[in-house]
Amino acid sequence: MCGIVGYVGDKQAQGVVIEGLRRLEYRGYDSAGIALVDTADGDGRIASDKRAGKLANLEKAIGEAPLPSSTTGIGHTRWATHGAPNDENAHPHLGRVSRVAVVHNGIIENFALLRTELERAGHEMLSETDTEIAAHLLELEVQAGADLTTAMQNVCRRLEGAFTLVAVDAEDPSRVVAARRNSPLVVGVGEGENFIGSDVAAFIEHTREAMELGQDQVVTITRDRVEVTGFDGSPAEGQRYHVDWDLSAAEKDGYDWFMRKEIFEQPRAVADAMLGRHDGSGKLQLDEVRLSEDELRTVDKIIIVGCGTANYAGLVAKYAIEHWTRIPCEVELAHEFRYRDPILTRDTLVVAMSQSGETADTLMAIRHARAQGSRVLAICNTNGSTIPRESDAVIYTHAGPEIGVASTKGFLTQLIACYLLGLYLAQVRGTKFGDEISQVLDELSRMPEHVQEVLDQAEDVYALAAQHAQTRSVLFLGRHAGFPIALEGALKLKELAYIHAEGFAAGELKHGPIALIEDGLPVFCIVPPRGRDELHQKMVSAIQEIRARGARTIVLAEEGDESITPYADELIRLPRVPTLLQPVVSVVPLQLFACELATQMGHDVDQPRNLAKSVTVE
Ligand code: AGP
Repeated sequence: MCGIVGYVGDKQAQGVVIEGLRRLEYRGYDSAGIALVDTADGDGRIASDKRAGKLANLEKAIGEAPLPSSTTGIGHTRWATHGAPNDENAHPHLGRVSRVAVVHNGIIENFALLRTELERAGHEMLSETDTEIAAHLLELEVQAGADLTTAMQNVCRRLEGAFTLVAVDAEDPSRVVAARRNSPLVVGVGEGENFIGSDVAAFIEHTREAMELGQDQVVTITRDRVEVTGFDGSPAEGQRYHVDWDLSAAEKDGYDWFMRKEIFEQPRAVADAMLGRHDGSGKLQLDEVRLSEDELRTVDKIIIVGCGTANYAGLVAKYAIEHWTRIPCEVELAHEFRYRDPILTRDTLVVAMSQSGETADTLMAIRHARAQGSRVLAICNTNGSTIPRESDAVIYTHAGPEIGVASTKGFLTQLIACYLLGLYLAQVRGTKFGDEISQVLDELSRMPEHVQEVLDQAEDVYALAAQHAQTRSVLFLGRHAGFPIALEGALKLKELAYIHAEGFAAGELKHGPIALIEDGLPVFCIVPPRGRDELHQKMVSAIQEIRARGARTIVLAEEGDESITPYADELIRLPRVPTLLQPVVSVVPLQLFACELATQMGHDVDQPRNLAKSVTVE
């Protein structure tokens, strides 16, 4: 989840790199640094500065001790893994004679062995990081006569783990060299200038022509060249693509937070997730799925793997997919998946749910699945990211850039993508008639307006948040497809307001959790549509039970459902939608509530403490 920028061109590198790092702040970080190749007096040296804390700390330091003019540079925002978030551990790291500077994202798993080897050879490490050993190893290579590209190839062959490395050589200011294994890296291809970034936000104000790199590749950028090789030096090709969203899409458009902006973008995002994926006659076209209809017909089990909010999307999807396709559908936390020795066959379809496409736990889960011969389909929001690249098929969610660390439109579009996948499987396998599929598609096509109807109640939800600004604990209850929404609502409150919140299946209350109910405790209750009478009645009973024990019930129920009115201290109305699709609308008030409560508590909603947008380490 670190942010990386590299630049070679005719502009002042310092400005390009610092601005690029600013665009990457959303990834979550705790220190920042920059290194420039100073060619002022011809022999070249590295000029660098790095500071713990936010980018502003680095800019202040540079203001007080300016760096020299340079057109070649690299920069980094670090989310600490090895070593505390302080100045010494911030990147870039330099070799023993400060000829090579390196920034890094990921974990070098064999760094301790390599560190010992270097220290025995007289190298003194100044930090606790794994990155520093890469700087020393690269510097030894260039001192022995290798160019930086060859040095990078040689060093990468010795490293184990997940890493993106970007380096500069004081004696060769013409190039920046980078390498990747299991960690994000993308090239920005400009005119007379080229860029390296951990994602396209680093450079799209300069160019929208991008190149994605494959596994175990080294890329060398100069002012007018981009060259890709394998770690063994063999020529390789990156995959060019055009970045179809512009910087304004990543700006806040007047909202106070990216997250709030992204909550209000959800009607558009839901519509985009369905765009071009079904024709007017209700027939689905998921061409990008890249699995043949015959392959889909042989699927006899589906396992959805993901983490956090993505896992909850899978829990919602399970209800719809099993109901429509009659295929058994398991949902597994990605970090638990491969350790439980799951039963996987060629006919198991593993669905990797990931907004960023870089979550290490999910990546390792699909690697395990593929090694067992199963096919993997990614549901992902980030074009060119590692998980879809390593899957047999992908359904992109088209939510656009999700900058806020707390996932909102990423989640909603994951639900839509899962519904489309379920309907597509039902269509291919004939478990639903065409007209039944058309009916669901019609309901889905109304979802953008239904989400908007809920957003139109935002002020009421904000007023509710203000009433609970002092609360120290909140519970969430749901049944059926509403249960994962209770979990997601609790997660939003935990990660944004830093208060205790817990989601339960309402039927679980009497098996223990009801002991938590005390006077004035706020409990969100997600009531299923009345179409499911039995479920609906049981939820009403649960609300009565907790209210009788003093809970403050905040009830989410569909328009026209008056049965719960007597038991609702607060009532948030939902549009009337089918049971399986209700999560698309019921999660929205919970997103708004968490965002507003955190704002009123003075928290950084876009970059909550301890969290990163993409967890690229296991
Ligand atoms: C969601 O609000 C959290 N930021 C977190 O749970 C996130 O959903 C999880 O880390 C998975 O991320 P991914 O979808 O990018 O794989």
